[in-house]
This record gives sequence, C-alpha cells and structure tokens, in this order.
Amino acid sequence: MLPTVDEPIAAIAVDARDRDAADRAIAEAQAYGATGIEEKDGERGAVSLTVYAPASAADALRAAVAQVLGPAARVGAVEPVTPQDWSSTWREGIEAVVVSPRLALRPSFVDYAAEAGQRVLVIDPGQAFGTGHHASTRLALELVDHALRGGSVIRVLDVGTGSGVLALAAVALGAGWALGCDLDPVAAREAGANARANDLAGHVRIFAGSLAAVRGTHFDLVVANLLSRELRPLLADLAGHLAPGGAAIFSGLLGSERDALLAECSGLGLALVEERSDTDGGERWVALWLQKRALHAPSDTLPAESEVGVE
Ligand SMILES: C[S@@+](CC[C@H](N)C(=O)[O-])C[C@H]1O[C@@H](n2cnc3c(N)ncnc32)[C@H](O)[C@@H]1O
Repeated sequence: MLPTVDEPIAAIAVDARDRDAADRAIAEAQAYGATGIEEKDGERGAVSLTVYAPASAADALRAAVAQVLGPAARVGAVEPVTPQDWSSTWREGIEAVVVSPRLALRPSFVDYAAEAGQRVLVIDPGQAFGTGHHASTRLALELVDHALRGGSVIRVLDVGTGSGVLALAAVALGAGWALGCDLDPVAAREAGANARANDLAGHVRIFAGSLAAVRGTHFDLVVANLLSRELRPLLADLAGHLAPGGAAIFSGLLGSERDALLAECSGLGLALVEERSDTDGGERWVALWLQKRALHAPSDTLPAESEVGVE
C-alpha cells in the first residue's frame, strides 16, 4: 500500500539477506511508523523492500532497522518521495484518436491540432463505453465516415449508443439527425451530456431504452456496436428499420463470428459493401457496412418516350 499524499513522505530501500531478515525489518519499520512497504524477491532468497514513512519519522526508523538487522541487511539513505496526484495520473498516455482526415476524437484534457476541415469531438472517459480507443468503436467510426461521404444520409439510428460517439460522429460528418438509445440509463445520460458538450444536442436525441421504442420509423443508416450475442436477436428488427437502399454498420464482432453474421444479414436482404478489422486486447474485431437491397433495382437506362407518356 502506498502512503497518502497529505504529508511529506520519505522512502528507504532495505536489501534483506533472506526472508527472515526481511520479516524482522518489516516488523521494526511498522513499529517505527512505516505507512507502506513494497517487497520484491531478489536472487538466492534475498528480499528488497521499499519502506515508506512520514519524513519526520524516517531517520529514527532507518536507524532502528539498521541496528536490529546489522549485517543481515543493507539499509539505504532516507529519500524524499515526490507526491503523486493519483486522481490525474490515470490521464497520462491517453491521446486523441484520429479516425480520418474528416474526424478526430479527444478527451477535454488532451490538446489536438485539427487538420483543415477536420471535425474534432470532445469525449471524456466516463462510465459509458465509447472514447474511440477501442478497435470496435474506431472501426465503426471509419465506416460511418465512408458511408456518409455520399451526403445522402439524413436519418441515423445508433443502437447501444454508450457515450453517444457514433451518433455524434454521424451528425458531425453530415447526417441530418441521429437517435441514440442504450439500455443503460447511465450511458444514456452521458451520451446526452456529450451531445450538449459538442453543441450537437439540436440534432442528436438520446433515450434510455431499447429498439422497441422506435417502432415504425425508418432510417437511412443504422449503426450498432454490440457484442454478437446482443446484436443477433435485434438483426431482423434493425433490417426492418432501414429505408430501401439504407445502410447498416455493425461492429463489435469477433473474427470467428463474421461469416455466420454475414449469412444472417444476407438472408435479411443486407449485402456487404465494405468491412474493416483490427486487433485489440488479443482479439480480432470486425466491422461490417451493409446495404439493404432496393425494392426495385434502379435502371440506368433512360426510359423510352412511350414509357413516360411524352407527347
Ligand atoms: C460496446 S458499447 C458501444 C458504445 C458506442 N456505441 C461505441 O461504439 O463505442 C455497447 C453499448 O450497448 C448497450 N446495449 C447492449 N445491448 C443493448 C440493446 N439491446 N439495446 C440498447 N443498448 C444495448 C450497452 O449498454 C453498451 O452501452
């Protein structure tokens, strides 16, 4: 256990010859007010200790340990410990996520210089999933970016919105509006807050609940980053919510689940347009962009005059 940050702390390195010497050093250090002790096994049974204590007690503690152990241990000097602010240490190493030249994400405490024409969404790590650092989110975002390049997507549904990241990205990239839902009310609350923080609340509506709440509405794009076991029971409903020619982006699939899911999608009239995959946490994650077949295949032949009733 590490000491608290409220008072100056000192550390003393103790190299004990064996386990017995280490146990005696620990007992003596605790008697003299040690607030934390780290142990590391060394070679041939030796044990290295780092003893933490209030700076005011450190000299007496060091002397006592050195006296009790004698030649059974080497006792280092008293070293001041730089206080750590553990509440901000976790932020170290978190970077912005660059999805494409059109989209990047960053937490509020990370600076990022946007490229010309690049939209940057600010999403802080919270309780809801979806900062863009996981492959399943990043792959979905890449496909959302591609799917929206045509500029014909107005209505978007994001099922399992988490932080709201996919709904927000869709609108930031040109969709007219997006509805996001999540079974987890905490996630829904965070997604709503993220929509407001990014000035997108006028185009993004979030609600806590399931797909059932949007019965009867049709969408140009449906996105869902869900585990396969969560997605599969929803597939038929999701396909039913697509306008003819509409697109679906499914992420959160493992590589081993891809073929079966694709076969199910095909049976529902959804054809593969593009797919992406990447590894994260030792797993291969796959995202699919599918398109619902139009009811009538559009013809590229100009109709004859007789067909269109031209006088
Ligand atoms: C993997 S996270 C995805 C978050 C975000 N969309 C992203 O891409 O990073 C999945 C979210 O779906 C929610 N969820 C799971 N099953 C759901 C369902 N049937 N309907 C709505 N939300 C669901 C979970 O609560 C979780 O917040």
